[in-house]
Amino acid sequence: MSHRILLLGAPGAGKGTQSKKLAEEYEVDHVTTGDALRANKDMETEFGTPRSFMEAGELVPDPVVNEIVEAALSDADGFVLDGYPRNLEQAEFLSDITDLDAVVFLDVDEEELVSRLTGRRMDPETGDIYHVEYDWPDDETIQERLVQREDDEEETVRERLRVYRENTEPVIEHFRERGDLVEVDGEASPEDVFDRITDVVET
Ligand code: AP5
Repeated sequence: MSHRILLLGAPGAGKGTQSKKLAEEYEVDHVTTGDALRANKDMETEFGTPRSFMEAGELVPDPVVNEIVEAALSDADGFVLDGYPRNLEQAEFLSDITDLDAVVFLDVDEEELVSRLTGRRMDPETGDIYHVEYDWPDDETIQERLVQREDDEEETVRERLRVYRENTEPVIEHFRERGDLVEVDGEASPEDVFDRITDVVET
């Protein structure tokens, strides 16, 4: 059975961590606007480059992001969508191009979000995500090549959370009012959060 799963949550809620595992579990595509934009940071668009928006913690303009999502979903049999929609206009665009089987909201307290993001490190070779306190690799070669994302400095993190509250919380409300949203407590261990999400997807 194909799955079309939408994972919503604030920056740092664990969307990337969980989406990767879910896409493997259900053998579907992992569609993430954040990664797609990071891979095309210096692409020239009529609005400028994605980099200028991302480094400030602001949203990249809708036409750029909508095009990425439409192309990715048109090729996918099933998917886990992560990082989109981030405002009501994107939510409307999404409902025009696909149906969804599950909409999951990962709920995490704001101070926990800040600590997760400022402590996050990424392996540039594999894309694997670690954390300086919660999930540090044993292998020294991996430790040495880990990098911090440019937008994970505390000041930018605070701005991303402000943008989230202003633009993306209305999207959560929109799905909640439609009765489609299932909330999952995102503050347990990554393994427990994963089990909770798969319970939602499979019921
Ligand atoms: P994007 O890449 O989408 O970032 P985000 O939504 O801000 O989310 P993150 O990737 O930062 O967090 P996450 O929820 O994936 O957390 P993770 O699993 O890594 O977007 C970046 C930028 O791109 C935006 O600011 C914007 O400029 C632009 N953009 C993207 N999409 C856009 C759109 N649709 N429209 C316009 N602009 C767009 O986890 C975080 C940390 O916590 C990790 O270190 C991890 O190890 C740790 N962790 C995870 N789970 C747990 C757990 N259960 N317990 C303890 N630690 C945990």
